[in-house]
Amino acid sequence: MFYSDDLIEEIRTQNDVVDVISPYVTLKKRSNSYVGLCPFHSEKSPSFVVSKDKQMYHCFGCGAGGNVITFIMEYENFSFVEAIKMLAARVNIELPEGEASKETKMQNDLKHNLLEIYKQAAKFYYYNLTSTQGEAALRYFDNRGITEETRKKFGLGYANVYSGGLYAYLKKQGYQDTILKESGLIAFDEKNGAYDKFWSRAMFPIFDVHGRVIAFGGRVLGDGMPKYLNSPETKLFDKSRNLYALNIARTSRKPYLLVCEGYMDVIALHQAGFNNAVASLGTAFTPQQASLLKRYTDLVYLTYDSDEAGRKATLRAIPILKEVDIAVKVLNLKPYKDPDDFIKAEGADAFEQRINEATTSIMFEIEVMESNTNMKDPESKTNFLNKVGERISILTTGIERDNYIEAVAAKYNVNKQNLLDLVNKIGARQGLVSEKHTQTSTERINKKDREDVVLRAQKILLTWLIDDINLFNKVKQIIQPQDFKDELYNKVAKMVYEQYELDGKVQPAKIINQFEEVEDQRKIAGIFSAEVKENITPSEYEKAVNETVKRIKKYSLDVMSRNIQELDELQILIKEQAKLQKLHISLIDG
Ligand code: GTP
Ligand code: MN
Repeated sequence: MFYSDDLIEEIRTQNDVVDVISPYVTLKKRSNSYVGLCPFHSEKSPSFVVSKDKQMYHCFGCGAGGNVITFIMEYENFSFVEAIKMLAARVNIELPEGEASKETKMQNDLKHNLLEIYKQAAKFYYYNLTSTQGEAALRYFDNRGITEETRKKFGLGYANVYSGGLYAYLKKQGYQDTILKESGLIAFDEKNGAYDKFWSRAMFPIFDVHGRVIAFGGRVLGDGMPKYLNSPETKLFDKSRNLYALNIARTSRKPYLLVCEGYMDVIALHQAGFNNAVASLGTAFTPQQASLLKRYTDLVYLTYDSDEAGRKATLRAIPILKEVDIAVKVLNLKPYKDPDDFIKAEGADAFEQRINEATTSIMFEIEVMESNTNMKDPESKTNFLNKVGERISILTTGIERDNYIEAVAAKYNVNKQNLLDLVNKIGARQGLVSEKHTQTSTERINKKDREDVVLRAQKILLTWLIDDINLFNKVKQIIQPQDFKDELYNKVAKMVYEQYELDGKVQPAKIINQFEEVEDQRKIAGIFSAEVKENITPSEYEKAVNETVKRIKKYSLDVMSRNIQELDELQILIKEQAKLQKLHISLIDG
């Protein structure tokens, strides 16, 4: 952080979280807070809650959350410094020039300049397309069935046959060679001097989620090589973290997103009404892209090319999406190569039909195994079924395993009981489903469940604590920050206790400020947003507090007992355990 903590606090407190979020999200007042449709994922009923008291927001649907600074960073795709600048300007706080480090300032200026250059370049290519020089490109788009409306929506353009037009255009606007070189749109060499990277190509601007141009793809108008040329990675553009057309698709408010490979696929799909399509742009699908998608959806339909390369890419993308808990279905486009070809030949209704018929990712994996099998050859078929058995045996629930055994038995004409036996045998061999191992895995689950229950209790207690100093004064005699065993919870508890001791009150949004990672900020907003029952009687509240405190303390003592090394530690433990037996926090008579 380059500005003083006090200054950042000043900026944060002057920017009321409800006022700042209101222009972005329609909020309705509901008791102490405001609710609206979450801008970070698609939903039909509002689960996005903004709290004026706590000066933070939290989405019960997707887990987005934080304070006013987090919101601006997340929504505008800003760095911390950029968000601070915007919020400071909003309330007329002047930022000391020197305080941002020189390097940060240069980085921000560079990013700002690059954004401007890309915007100008997009304009330039866009106008070229409708000028006389752009005729061939215009015809090309026409021939591919792209309407004028679609062309405008995607900002499609054309880079002239004569290289140098963009360079001259940008120079006229006063840009220096160094920054033009940095943009990757202009190349420099000793012999030829400066020249445009793109010439004689149909141009596809690539937008970030907020609709700012951050890169270009350029396609040859015929059969030349390379078919597509992309602008390089820059301070603006990290291709592993972007998806083409996500800026549009994220607002489609559909329950799933379609992921395909190419620019033209996305454009054809949007034109046919599937405005929830995005593309991974020919590169292998990345974990960062999966996390990005997870902000907007829990379900993805993969509609990669139907050739071997596309199938391989699909197989690789499935586990990456599963890793972030996105459910995956796979579209079959055969006999067509890609969504663009399909739509052109069969139309939107037929595509919708394919969406309805999409297979689950596991069935798709099994189909790929089958395609490498000669089902008439007993050995090959046995081999196939062994692989299927292996795949099914690693499914976590018995219900899932049963369902797939049934589906595979029916589809490939296999005896169900035999397949079940095979799955069990493989599972036993891998220690997944045998009697003995079932127990350890249930134990494992129980341990995890128990931790979840304790974390939930800690979350509830923290949510209560920040609103109730009376409760804090009683609880602090029993529970200390070190009783919060999870690292993040422990840090948060420390800060809650500190703020009470120093200021006599807690400001959740101030605590959020102490964490630099947006991921931590969203988790903390979640911690302070436990769903606690409202309108409960004082005696119900007292009872719940006691149960919660006991649960947390007991877990903490259990952890302690596991790590005991010294005799005096044991004595403390015994004393504490005796205290816990008799514990009662009385809240009603003050
Ligand atoms: P069209 O022939 O225009 O329909 O292309 P497509 O959209 O069907 O693309 P294809 O399936 O051939 O490739 C999918 C994506 O991979 C494209 O949209 C590009 O982003 C990328 N791609 C394809 N060819 C090249 C190439 O030669 N170089 C680079 N860098 N990317 C490519
Ligand atoms: Mn294509």
